[in-house]
Amino acid sequence: EKGGWSSFMAKEVAEEPEAVANTILGRVKDGQVVIPELDGMDELFAGVQRIIIVACGTASYAGQVGKYAIEQWARIPVDVELAHEFRYRDPIVGPETLVVSISQSGETMDTLMAVKEAARLGAKTLSICNTQGATIPRESDAIVYTHAGPEVAVASTKAFVAQITALYLLALHVGRIRGTVSPAEAARSIHELEALPEKIRWILENEQEHIEQLAHWMADTRSVLFLGRHVGFPIALEGALKLKELSYIHAEGFAAGELKHGPIALIEPGQPVFVMVPSPRGAATLHAKVVSNIEEIRARGARVIAIAEEGDVAVLPFADEVLRIPLAGPIFEPILAVVPLHIFAMGLANAKGLDVDQPRNLAKSVTVE
Ligand code: BG6
Repeated sequence: EKGGWSSFMAKEVAEEPEAVANTILGRVKDGQVVIPELDGMDELFAGVQRIIIVACGTASYAGQVGKYAIEQWARIPVDVELAHEFRYRDPIVGPETLVVSISQSGETMDTLMAVKEAARLGAKTLSICNTQGATIPRESDAIVYTHAGPEVAVASTKAFVAQITALYLLALHVGRIRGTVSPAEAARSIHELEALPEKIRWILENEQEHIEQLAHWMADTRSVLFLGRHVGFPIALEGALKLKELSYIHAEGFAAGELKHGPIALIEPGQPVFVMVPSPRGAATLHAKVVSNIEEIRARGARVIAIAEEGDVAVLPFADEVLRIPLAGPIFEPILAVVPLHIFAMGLANAKGLDVDQPRNLAKSVTVE
């Protein structure tokens, strides 16, 4: 039931605010994150020495964002691996390793097999999943459900923002147990987290039309590049994946810092490049470096579409288009920055007359290896 929506994807993008809010619901108590499903696991979290996140596709990019939050708040080293790669490389995993899987469906065979392999090697397993009672959570030692609601469109949208939210909650929960995040910082972070649904709503209300219009103008585009740095890097990868999946054009995401080590060779006049601009409220050098990347590609004729915080004027002289997101601060920005990319990919596919819910050759959940 699409309701009044033109596609499930349009409906699911509109549900992103609730997906985040419902994933937080019931997991904040007295200004601290407490995840009731993880009761009794404090000792495990206190002793864990390493976390490996396994997932496929969009879920793996959520994992890459989560790595920053877990390392920042829980101070545990995190590796993020594609589930199919993890399983076939004889990974070094033991009882002090926690393997966190991320899967919307909970049925992705590659991810399931990685979880089973991790358990066989003696690791503890935790599943972040959107589907109650699915196979992966049933095979795991612990479960943190995302509460995005059923996702029908093949390209994951609201489940992705819910996955990042769940990873932030997990990071704050474990950080509290390990004493690595101060109560003041935890309270500040929870406040930011709880403000995100309203900020996503702001993007949908104020920028959606502008982004759809842009997608319409770009309907004939053959290739789009995405640049990001820090937490913006996995968002650049996700923006490119969405565009490939939905509109069948060449799209590639790069770490902005890599630009001079190769990708800048691709820049020729007219090449559209989306740039995730880090929050100017974070490390000043990061923001300045990305702005100077924008100058470099612009000087070579790139058509720059900057995704930047409201009030960030530094990007204005160099960007052809600025897509605004509300202020959220460095760690929280990805949940907002990905929303314009979802809208853009959907808008471009619509402009080309393609089926956004069921792109060619793809399946919602891939239950074969
Ligand atoms: C892919 C889907 O095949 O599987 C992606 O097309 C998804 O949208 C990926 O991100 C992983 O799926 P899941 O259910 O494990 O999150």
